[in-house]
Amino acid sequence: AGEDLQGYFDAIVAADQKVEPRDWMPEAYRKTLIRQIAQHAHSEIIGMQPEGNWISRAPSLKRKAILLAKVQDEAGHGLYLYAAAETLGISRDELVEMLIDGRQKYSSIFNYPTLTWADVGAIGWLVDGAAIVNQVPLCRCSYGPYARAMIRVCKEESFHQRQGFEILHTLSHGTPGQKAMAQDAVDRWWYPSLAMFGPPDGDSTHSERSMAWKIKRFSNDELRQRFVDMCVQQAGVLDLRIPDPDLRWDEERQQHHYTQPDYDELMRVIKGDGPCNQERMEHRRRAHEEGAWVREAAMAYAAKRENSAV
Ligand code: ACO
Repeated sequence: AGEDLQGYFDAIVAADQKVEPRDWMPEAYRKTLIRQIAQHAHSEIIGMQPEGNWISRAPSLKRKAILLAKVQDEAGHGLYLYAAAETLGISRDELVEMLIDGRQKYSSIFNYPTLTWADVGAIGWLVDGAAIVNQVPLCRCSYGPYARAMIRVCKEESFHQRQGFEILHTLSHGTPGQKAMAQDAVDRWWYPSLAMFGPPDGDSTHSERSMAWKIKRFSNDELRQRFVDMCVQQAGVLDLRIPDPDLRWDEERQQHHYTQPDYDELMRVIKGDGPCNQERMEHRRRAHEEGAWVREAAMAYAAKRENSAV
């Protein structure tokens, strides 16, 4: 019977069909998905912090309303993804616990500071742009609930990316001071955005297996390349420079040659030693503790409704 189950699972994956929560799946497949989806959910929630810092300082009421909506979308993505992870037999409480005590990760990118308003533009353009390149293929991931969650998330990410592009476009076509601020933000966010795609393929521990299972559809380096090719064109429209003197079109390979990010820095940031790791985690822990009464009240309310329904 064990072989039949494995055979059935393999056939679903081979036929590009979806594995659903009640289907049998290899334990390692389940674990990999929990790790990736949880890390993704945590990233959305921690990712609210760098931009949240600018809500009260956005340069106009309209900009404030847009940024507020965007940060709320990220909370929505996080909750949506926690729900997807829960279909694999783990609870959101456990996942949040694991983030808080450091057993699970979140994206390296959110450990960098947002120093100026232009950083909000650069995050939208580059970070959300990278997120789209990474996540559109996840809409075809073999695990049904994750793939379906990604469809809505990607639509909203596209909107976020446009909003960042528009901020940078406005700044780069404004005063010389505004243009310089936009360029400075792009200079600081470029390499960390390239690093978001993860270590180079040769050092990526999970890629081979995740690709065989069709959780990942492309390797880290393939997606990084796609991102660079996309950004070069858009930087032209923005009239901003990508801070890479070696960036050039490679006629033979029909793609851009570019300088790799500093992967030692990526590893340091992943291990907890980035510019804002401590601040982000402290803030997350504090928010969790301060939110305890809301969770208790919600539980009490649910219990009361359940009793009155009987
Ligand atoms: N930040 C933090 N950790 C990372 C990053 C990163 N940018 N890139 C890789 N890692 C970690 C992996 O989690 C893995 O660690 P682990 O074994 O302890 O879990 C290790 O580095 C080795 O990397 P890979 O083997 O390449 O890991 P994986 O196959 O999971 O690929 C990737 C990494 C591409 C990030 C993948 O997990 C993924 O596509 N995740 C979904 C998207 C996502 O999480 N995006 C979050 C940011 S986007 C946003 O929220 C706007």
